[in-house]
Amino acid sequence: MCGIVGAIADRDVVQLLIEGLKRLEYRGYDSAGIAVVAGEAGCEEIRRVRRTGRVAEMEAAAASEAFTAGTGIGHTRWATHGGVTEANAHPHISHGVALVHNGIIENHEEQREKLRALGYEFESQTDTEVIAHLIHSFLKQGDDLLAAVQRAVGELTGAYALAVVSRHEPERLIAARMGCPLLVGLGEGENFIASDVSAIVQATRRVIFLEEGDTAEVTRDAVRVFDEHGAVVEREVHVSDVSLASLELGPYRHFMQKEIHEQPRAIADTIEAVIDNKGFSASLFGAGAEPVLADVEAVQILACGTSYFAGLTARYWIEAIVGIPCSVEVASEYRYRSAVANPKQLVVTISQSGETLDTMEALKYAKSLGHDKTLSICNVPESAIPRASRLVYYTRAGAEIGVASTKAFTTQLVALFTLTATLAKLRGRLSPEQEGEFLDALRQLPGSVQHALNLEPQITAWAERFAPKQHALFLGRGVHYPIALEGALKLKEISYIHAEAYPAGELKHGPLALVDADMPVVVIAPRDSLLEKVKSNIQEVRARGGEMFVFADLDSHFGDSEQVSVIRTPRHVGVLSPIVHTIPVQLLAYHVALARGTDVDKPRNLAKSVTVE
Ligand code: G6P
Repeated sequence: MCGIVGAIADRDVVQLLIEGLKRLEYRGYDSAGIAVVAGEAGCEEIRRVRRTGRVAEMEAAAASEAFTAGTGIGHTRWATHGGVTEANAHPHISHGVALVHNGIIENHEEQREKLRALGYEFESQTDTEVIAHLIHSFLKQGDDLLAAVQRAVGELTGAYALAVVSRHEPERLIAARMGCPLLVGLGEGENFIASDVSAIVQATRRVIFLEEGDTAEVTRDAVRVFDEHGAVVEREVHVSDVSLASLELGPYRHFMQKEIHEQPRAIADTIEAVIDNKGFSASLFGAGAEPVLADVEAVQILACGTSYFAGLTARYWIEAIVGIPCSVEVASEYRYRSAVANPKQLVVTISQSGETLDTMEALKYAKSLGHDKTLSICNVPESAIPRASRLVYYTRAGAEIGVASTKAFTTQLVALFTLTATLAKLRGRLSPEQEGEFLDALRQLPGSVQHALNLEPQITAWAERFAPKQHALFLGRGVHYPIALEGALKLKEISYIHAEAYPAGELKHGPLALVDADMPVVVIAPRDSLLEKVKSNIQEVRARGGEMFVFADLDSHFGDSEQVSVIRTPRHVGVLSPIVHTIPVQLLAYHVALARGTDVDKPRNLAKSVTVE
């Protein structure tokens, strides 16, 4: 969602804020701004630059103003309340107080009325502006900035991460957090605030993750954290292992391309613990996991977007291999329905970022129903969802910057397969031979994924044929149906071609009506037990004049023919086949988007980390 950075230092922080915002741009990119406390001691003023569009445009505007300052805050926005306009861009200012905000204030209308009655005028349509005025109203009553922020957040309902500066108190930054991630970075004689560590990693790796309800006072030399009751608390200092290289493009044109190609390494890193352990065991999911997992009788998976499709794939594995029921539900649906609690059910949340609000709220709701067997599969250490879960399996994909998720998805699948094998073993349903086979399959997976990546030139040639189309259908069956869903999602996210996925057997029940020469049909056709059924479905499309693009295993015995183009993926890899078949659909979406000239890493209207409903 939105990205926040703040800095207080003995040096000029303007460039540091801008560099930080560039690294946070994946969180939201419809407008950007900075505000700094500038000027001689005793006559400081807030200087602000905001622009719609990308950080680069705001940077150019800031350069022409040529100001310098030792204290400042910055923001990249993904619009919620109020359109994409300069007036709605952050920072927002009220009488010398400037602030940036991530999240949504639910009672902003009520606060706005109260503040209007006090004489405050509003320049934007945002929920954020009320916070700036609210803080100022408490300053007017004699509070200092810290107390004013603490009182103001007490009046708010909703979610927020805030960074606040005041021209009257240039020697400090104030931070507050509820429901949205925020951390404090600890430097030498300088300190920082950020939504995530990528924004400040060039300056420090030592961070304190603020907890729900925390506020923090950040000066050059000290950081004091207060809990929701205003009591000073000690929070642990973490040393982040995020590398600068993982945040830079290197030889690639886009982060998505880089992240697609990083998959063999990301998968190898994610399975390392299993391979080192020489087998599947509950301990892979954290200390004390065995009693939690041992008597699990059902699994409920909750997730959004691509992570939801990882869950749909896992359902096939869990029911077939563990032999227990598995339901998968979009988190935003689960959280608002009357779900039936089952104390023997394992609730698994899947989230790349660990901060997707719908997934977090679904987890809280499950816990409120009495579920206490909770497991998070997540790519970001110390993020909110794993912290709220009893067990955790961290995927080790490394920072994922492209908005369209790629390496996070395949590593989630690896983690879910590990969960499947572990639950099966705990239930006595995994023989030593089968365990050995599964381990071998995992060991060989990075190599098979690399073979699939080598298909890129053939897929690039297909992409040219897709680029002029307006619609596309994706078909798969069984455990590959969710891969068809993921392929369609990737294509629509980044190329804006309308794409839908169907189980191939469902085609004749409706979508076949759409098939004509202008509707390319992508078919995932691995050599599994459903291959002959898929071949029949292909004939149904062919008979209606449809053009098909088939990803078949080398041993599927598919030949090219009129209307049917085939790319052969490596030999069928067995149970992990959906992971290998993900690669071609990612590459197809990427190259179609390139051919159409869209902004691959920052597709219109989307954001990577969605911390609002
Ligand atoms: C956003 C992203 C998607 C992602 C989804 C869930 O919509 O654009 O790529 O799949 O959120 O994110 P999560 O971090 O919870 O996996």
